[in-house]
Amino acid sequence: MQIQSGKDLLGLRELPEADIESILKTAASMKEIFTRPVRRVPPLIAKNIVTLFYEPSTRTAASFHLAARMLSASVNNIQVTSSSVKKGETLIDTVKNLEAMGMDAVIIRHSMAGAPHLVAQNIKGSVINAGDGFNEHPTQGLLDIFTMREKKGKLKDKKVLIVGDILHSRVARSNIWGLKTLGAKVTVVGPPTLIPKDIEKTGVTVSYNLDKEIKDADFVNVLRIQLERQEAGLFPSLEEYHKLYGINAERLKKAKNDVVVMHPGPINRGVEISSDVADGPYNVILDQVTNGVAVRMAVLFLLLGGKRAKR
Ligand code: CP
Repeated sequence: MQIQSGKDLLGLRELPEADIESILKTAASMKEIFTRPVRRVPPLIAKNIVTLFYEPSTRTAASFHLAARMLSASVNNIQVTSSSVKKGETLIDTVKNLEAMGMDAVIIRHSMAGAPHLVAQNIKGSVINAGDGFNEHPTQGLLDIFTMREKKGKLKDKKVLIVGDILHSRVARSNIWGLKTLGAKVTVVGPPTLIPKDIEKTGVTVSYNLDKEIKDADFVNVLRIQLERQEAGLFPSLEEYHKLYGINAERLKKAKNDVVVMHPGPINRGVEISSDVADGPYNVILDQVTNGVAVRMAVLFLLLGGKRAKR
C-alpha cells in the first residue's frame, strides 16, 4: 500500500495533502507514457482489477479500463445488468465472490452514498470509489485538480467557481474537499434550491450572483444540470437556468482573459454551458478527460504496489 492514508481511495474529504501531492506527481509521470510509441508499462502485470458499475458511465469506466491496461493489469468488467445482482445477490456477496476468484482491486460506482466504504470494510483488496450517490467522485476531483495545476500551477489562493447543481453533485463535493486541502478559495454558485444547507461549513463561499463572481475567477467548473431536477421543481425552466447560471460567450466577456472553463461531462449543451464555450478557447474539457487516464493510472499504481513519487 503506497497511498499513506489506507488501502483504498474512497474520497478526498479525508485524503491528506501529502497523498494528493503524491498522486498528482505520479500522474505527471504517467502522462509522459502517453507520448511513447508503446503506451504500456509492466508494474501491475500480476494484478486483477474488477470494475463494478451500478450506474452508467462513459468517461470514468473507459478511463479506468485504459489506465489498468496501460499498467498491464488484467481487467474484468462486471455488467451489473446481466450479473447475478439481477437474481438478488447482495453487494457484499458479489464482491466477496470476486475476491475469492483472486481480485486485487474493485472500482465501484453505486447510487448509494457509502457503498464503496461498505465494500472496503468487507474485503482485503483495494476499493476505489468511482462515484457514490451525491457523496464523492474522488478521481474526478483529482483529475480536475491535476488539470488546474497544469494550467495555472499551485492552487493556493486561486479562486475556483463551482457553478450549478451543488446539492446533487458528488463532483462538487470531491472538488471542494481537495481544493480546500490545497488552499484554493472555492465559491459555489447556483440557484438557492440547488445549494445545500450549511455548505459554508466546508469552508466555501456561497453566492447566487454568477455575473459578480465570474469577474475575478481563475477557474469556472461547470456542473451538469440533471434534467430530472427541473421536473422536481428545483428551477423554473432550462431557458431560465441558462439565462441566470449558464456559461456562454457573452457572460465570459466579464471574466479574466486567462479564465479556465471546466466541465466533468457529460455536457448538456445550451443548458449549463453553450457550445461556443464548450468548444471555445477557454475550455479544457477534453484535457480533463485525457488527464483522467493519467490520474487513474497513478491511483492504481500507488494503491496496488507502486513506489511513491519522490517529493
Ligand atoms: N465525469 C463522469 O463521471 O463521467 P461519466 O459518468 O461518463 O463517468
